[in-house]
Amino acid sequence: MTRTVIRGGFVITASDEVHADVLIEGGRVAAVVAHDSSAAESWTADRVVDATGMYVIPGGVDAHTHMELPFGGTAASDTFETGTRAAAWGGTTTIVDFAVQSVGQRIREGLDTWHAKADGRCAIDYGFHMILSDVNEDTLKEMDNLVEDGVTSFKLFMAYPGVFYSDDGQILRAMQRTAGNGGLTMMHAENGIAIDVLVEQALAAGRTDPRYHGEVRRALLEAEATHRAIQLARVAGSPLYVVHVSAEEAVEEIARARDMGLNVFGETCPQYLFLSTDNLAEPDFEGAKYVCSTPLRPKEHQAALWRGLRTNDLSVVSTDHCPFCFVGQKELGRGDFSKIPNGLPGVENRMDLLHQAVLDGHISRRRWIELACATPSRMFGLYPRKGTIAPGADADIVLYDPHVRQTLSAATHHMNVDYSAYEGKQVTGQVRTVLSRGELVLDDREYVGRAGHGQYLARSTSQYLI
Ligand code: URP
Ligand code: ZN
Ligand code: ZN
Ligand code: ZN
Repeated sequence: MTRTVIRGGFVITASDEVHADVLIEGGRVAAVVAHDSSAAESWTADRVVDATGMYVIPGGVDAHTHMELPFGGTAASDTFETGTRAAAWGGTTTIVDFAVQSVGQRIREGLDTWHAKADGRCAIDYGFHMILSDVNEDTLKEMDNLVEDGVTSFKLFMAYPGVFYSDDGQILRAMQRTAGNGGLTMMHAENGIAIDVLVEQALAAGRTDPRYHGEVRRALLEAEATHRAIQLARVAGSPLYVVHVSAEEAVEEIARARDMGLNVFGETCPQYLFLSTDNLAEPDFEGAKYVCSTPLRPKEHQAALWRGLRTNDLSVVSTDHCPFCFVGQKELGRGDFSKIPNGLPGVENRMDLLHQAVLDGHISRRRWIELACATPSRMFGLYPRKGTIAPGADADIVLYDPHVRQTLSAATHHMNVDYSAYEGKQVTGQVRTVLSRGELVLDDREYVGRAGHGQYLARSTSQYLI
């Protein structure tokens, strides 16, 4: 068994901050002891990693990615190979991606398709949620089998009629099923039927620019859908996880539900915290780079998101990484914003942007780790294997330099996409070294990982439910 010691770093988990040395044996953390203790001095190791001046943090858990997602006549530009490599560069060592059931397809077929895309190609460990696009009797029965096989969360869409959309009856049935089998319902909460009316009206009036994508997808229609999803979950007696929350009014719905003691959880993403409708309004069709759903909101919404992250009304920050190149992909929507493929790149940027949020005073260091590592791991049945540094946990560990200044840019990122949503943004802090199950993936900013190292993670049910 290979023994690795990480010496001299400052270990940060969701619960502790301590100068400590970490002993890794055979891919797992064997011990974490105070740096000045005699126990650590007596450790023998095959490899010693010097972490002086570094934060030693758990690898990030990004519970919301879409590698190779087919969307709007094209497909997300990161494959599992390129996307997981970029994730590792950014300090993320686990992703949970969304397998898709297409209309008319059995969910098992959709899952098999995603395994075929990912298996043997990932640089880091990965699991799957299941997107339900066709809730029928077969789908409902198969959900139980998926939960048993480690796919324990199901995303439903109140948006995108004709593609991913489920009506309220289908949503209620799926929620009733998760109430029985321990699965977690994830909701894309936007009133897609109403939005499609506003899209049609905007286009008929000649409003075709990307910024109208933000205008028609009204905050009230996110709040209404969030409210409706919460009530349906109450009727079904099931837990609910609302993905990519961007509107202040939606945060209020989630906060109210949580204040009632309901099993309702909210996720937001860095793009909603750092970008706004100002980006959607960039001239010369540049706004297309920022088209995603839920959409970016006016800056005024950001305070509510930061507040939600502090009060735990929002519990997780994921990326919703779903990159489309500007050239040839976002451009499909020139002259018609509704044809711009929806999604932003970001899997590589999340840990850095949230560290910047620590420096900006929005959240504490431990909260950074809680939002980006520990809670997503617990929420999706991976804890304590992932998301913390403790004896028995997988040795998914990042050495993070909190002092280096870097400029985010497409010229230096590793995502397979021709632009950065954060082009030119200066942040302080950078990932130096990454281990996945004790193996080096990034060694002092030299990539030494390999496609196929990443293993599929069968997940247990959520550990967050009352
Ligand atoms: O715009 C987005 N978010 N694209 C990915 C699909 C989704 O709804 O999460
Ligand atoms: Zn969504
Ligand atoms: Zn509250
Ligand atoms: Zn998504």
